[in-house]
Amino acid sequence: MSPTPLSQDELKTQVGTAALHYLVPNEWVGVGTGSTVNKFIDALASCKTPIKGAVSSSEASTQRMKALGIHVVDLQEVTRLAVYIDGADEIDGHGCMVKGGGAALTREKIVAAQADQFVCIADASKLVKVLGKFPLPVEVIPMAAPEIMRRFNAMGGQAHVRLKDGAPLLTDNGQHLVDVTGLQITDPVSFENQVSQWPGVVTVGVFAHQKAHVCLLGTEAGVQTLSF
Ligand code: A5P
Repeated sequence: MSPTPLSQDELKTQVGTAALHYLVPNEWVGVGTGSTVNKFIDALASCKTPIKGAVSSSEASTQRMKALGIHVVDLQEVTRLAVYIDGADEIDGHGCMVKGGGAALTREKIVAAQADQFVCIADASKLVKVLGKFPLPVEVIPMAAPEIMRRFNAMGGQAHVRLKDGAPLLTDNGQHLVDVTGLQITDPVSFENQVSQWPGVVTVGVFAHQKAHVCLLGTEAGVQTLSF
C-alpha cells in the first residue's frame, strides 16, 4: 500500500520547521506573513537557538509571536537582520517571487530589504516557470486605483480592487490593494522597475530586487533546498 500523501498543511509544517536551521545565533530574525510562516512561528516558539528577537512584517504575525512569548521589536530599532523568513504566492527558478496574497507585501518588502539572507518557505505548488499564475497584488493609494487598473488592463491583465466584507480591504498601512490576473511576468526585474514608478503605487508584489537567496520547498520526498 502506498503511503498517504502529505497534506498541504503538513508540507508547510515541514518547511516551517526546516527554516529554524537558518537562524543565526544571537541575531535578529525577520518574520513574514501567511499560513506557512505561521508554522515557522510555532516552531520558533520552542526553538533552542538563542536569538535577540524578531521583527515582524504584519500585525497578524506580531500578534501570533507575542502570544507565543517571542520578543518582537520595531524595524526602526534594528540596523540589520541576519535572515528574513517568509512564504510566497509563487516563486520562479531564479528566486523571484509574487507576494502579497496576505496583503502584507509592503512591510514584507521593507523588512526583506534589511536582511542579509531571504529564506523562502513554500509548498511545492508555489514553484512556477513564469510568474503570473497567481493574481498579482499591488498596494496603491486609493485615489490612484482607477488609473493603475487601466494601465494593467492595457498590458493585457484584468485588475480589480480587493474587497473585504463588501468594501475595499484596508492594508496595515491604510491603503488599498489591486489584484491583477492574466499577466505573464517574463522579466520580473523590468516589471518591478516599471510598475514601481507609476504614481500611486505603494508596492508591487513582484519581489525581484528582494528575491529569495534560498527556497525550502515542501515536497512528498522531503524538504528540497533551492539556492539562487
Ligand atoms: C503575505 O502578504 C504573502 O506575501 C505571503 O507570504 C504569501 O501569501 C504566502 O502565504 P501562504 O504561506 O499562506 O501561502
